Amino acid sequence: MDPKEIDWNKLTAIIEKHRTQKWSLIPLLQEVQEVYGYIPPEAIEPIAESLKMLPAQVQGVATFYSGFSLKPKGKCVLKVCRGTACHVKGSRSILRHVKKELHLEEGETSEDYQFTLETVACLGACFLAPTMMVNREYYGKLNPTKVTSVLGQYSKNKEDDG
Ligand code: FES
Repeated sequence: MDPKEIDWNKLTAIIEKHRTQKWSLIPLLQEVQEVYGYIPPEAIEPIAESLKMLPAQVQGVATFYSGFSLKPKGKCVLKVCRGTACHVKGSRSILRHVKKELHLEEGETSEDYQFTLETVACLGACFLAPTMMVNREYYGKLNPTKVTSVLGQYSKNKEDDG
């Protein structure tokens, strides 16, 4: 999500909902991340204040759990598997191909916030190796041609067309 397009009213509503709950930091952060795609740094202080915590404590939790991201991610988050089963089936060349097509390195997000590229240890679909995920969708038995066609489905121009 492009940080410039943030609707802060949603943050206020999420905070209000969790304010009275005990042990509510994690579910609150989860909801913020679901709505915004990440935890905006500007959200840390109001969250801390509402839960009577220090901003550093909230920041610490958000940083500790790998499921939380403090950086904005693209609309399409690509997770390319680099696990053993996928490695044996050529995941390195798949990753290389994805990087070339998107002009991104691991952990990077495109300037238009369309794509974020990540790698993971195993997607739990080894029988489909080599695999990758785009958001919640699995793509398996990949080869460079298939990767190009998958990326085409998620490219911005394609979405604008249809
Ligand atoms: S190693 Fe790639 S899905 Fe398991």
